[in-house]
Amino acid sequence: MIVRQLFDQVSSTYTYLLADEGTREAVLIDSVFERHARDLALLRELDLKLLWVIDTHCHADHVTGAWLMREALAAKICLSREYDAENVDVRLEDGDVIRFGSHALSVLATPGHTAGCLSLVSEDQTMVFTGDALLVRSVGRTDFQGGSSERLYRSIKDRLFSLPDACVVYPAHDYDGRTSSTIGEERRHNPRIGGEARQEDFVGYMENLGLPHPKQIAQALPANLRSGRPLEQATKTPSWGPVIATYAGLPEIAPEWVAQHRGELELIDVRSPGEFDGELGHIEGARLVPLDELRQRTGELGRERPVVLVCQTGKRSGMGAVILRNAGFERVANLAGGMVRWRELGLPD
Ligand SMILES: [Fe+2]
Repeated sequence: MIVRQLFDQVSSTYTYLLADEGTREAVLIDSVFERHARDLALLRELDLKLLWVIDTHCHADHVTGAWLMREALAAKICLSREYDAENVDVRLEDGDVIRFGSHALSVLATPGHTAGCLSLVSEDQTMVFTGDALLVRSVGRTDFQGGSSERLYRSIKDRLFSLPDACVVYPAHDYDGRTSSTIGEERRHNPRIGGEARQEDFVGYMENLGLPHPKQIAQALPANLRSGRPLEQATKTPSWGPVIATYAGLPEIAPEWVAQHRGELELIDVRSPGEFDGELGHIEGARLVPLDELRQRTGELGRERPVVLVCQTGKRSGMGAVILRNAGFERVANLAGGMVRWRELGLPD
């Protein structure tokens, strides 16, 4: 199974991408609205087909990317039936099974942080995605959204702690850079519920946390009850072309499109003069600005037209795109595959 743990620094959220190596079918757990482009790029680069986008619970600290994923890839949105949320395709409950390729996740109801919290357990019980029920050396707060310390105590003690000791715990958040734990470890060392902790100890601890009200709750909760569908549909900035953001964060554009729209673009070739007039040649109308001169010469470049950067294979021009973006160029992209791909496709000079 392919397993990727992704992180959002703003909300300290972990998003998980799981996929079957054979069929390429995939599941995304706890996606973040603002990280949509990253997740989409990774799915595309790994050649995965996203079937399910699941939230372990209705989050109060970030907006889910579920709706964006359904729009982009027709993935099905899954959420606990405990919430009265819109745009949900599959309303999950305890015992449900989510299949992707030859793998499956079992749904375990683990309420307490909120009334609808679910954990997702891999078929062989080697992994559990606990949402905010069980965190690394911590647990989710229980003071809003139908939370209950008593219920969380039972969810963890009776359900999560009955998983095998070696089962890896993947939480939805961590604020100290800890990425995972195991059931055995948490059963022994969790300061709130591990060791000999009884229900009175746990409830007493939870009632005296004194946490501030979550900053994003007023915005995040209503948005999550729409599965992350924005109220303003027209918030997207109009794009000048089919620019794709890669997982590495680079704006890339397909050579076929560039060939058809050359007259509307500023083409900047960042190779050396020798390469520019060498074996691969160059695209007619492209202007030569070697990469090591680009930073100093951004003032010479017009901003009226979108800029497409060109090099041999698209690596140096990727750096060029970053340089121009940092210099304030808004419409800039890297020619995917560079002159090598351009020639392979038989595109004109
Ligand atoms: Fe939460």
